[in-house]
Amino acid sequence: MKLTELLEIESGGEMYSLPELPYSYDALEPHIDEETMIEHHSKHQAKYVDNLNKELADLPQMRKPLEEIFKDIQSYNTAVRNNAGGVWNHTFFWNLLSPNPTAPTSELKMDILRKWDTMEDFQSEFKDAGLKRFGSGWVWLVYNEKVGGLEIISTPNQDNPLMMDGMLPIIGCDLWEHAYYLKHKSNRGNWIDTFFEILNWDFANKWYNKVVK
Ligand code: FE2
Repeated sequence: MKLTELLEIESGGEMYSLPELPYSYDALEPHIDEETMIEHHSKHQAKYVDNLNKELADLPQMRKPLEEIFKDIQSYNTAVRNNAGGVWNHTFFWNLLSPNPTAPTSELKMDILRKWDTMEDFQSEFKDAGLKRFGSGWVWLVYNEKVGGLEIISTPNQDNPLMMDGMLPIIGCDLWEHAYYLKHKSNRGNWIDTFFEILNWDFANKWYNKVVK
C-alpha cells in the first residue's frame, strides 16, 4: 500500500506536485502557529518538490512514485534522496496531525502495548530517541518486517524508513528546527510533547492496518 494511494494524491509520472494540507494553516493553533505552518508547507515542502522536479527533469525514466524511488535509493544521487524524502515525509506528517486529535485505539494501540508496558513508556522512548538525534532528522515508530514487530528509530536529514530494507514507517515526527523553532525555540522536547497532543491516531491506525496487517 502506498501513501499516495491512501491519500489519493498523484506522485511521480510527469511531475511531482505539492499536496494540499488536509486543514487550514491556522487549524493547529495554538499547538503549531500559523506562520510556522505556512513556512513549513508553502516554502520548505514546496522547495523539496521543486528541487526533485529539477533533479529528475532530464531523467523521465527515473521519475517514479516516491515509494519506488526509496526502494532503489542507492541508484539516485543525494539531492534526489533528500528532496524525495522531504516530499514524502511531510505529506505523511501533515496527515499524522489533526486539529481534532484522536485517542490511540485498536490494533496499533494493542501492538504498542505489547511492546511497551504503557503508552507513556512508548511516548517516553520516542521522545528520548528524538532528543538524541543530532542535528536535523526524524524520529519514527516503525514496523520491522524482519522481526515482525514495532520499534523506534531516528533517521538523519530527510531519510525515512522506506529507504531501509524491511522497515515501514508508522508514525514520524519532524525534528528539523523549521518545524518548531518559532514557537518552541530550541526546546525539542516540548515540541515532541506537542506532537503527541495533536497526533491523529485514527490516521496512524488506518495506515498501520494498510501497510502491516
Ligand atoms: Fe519539515
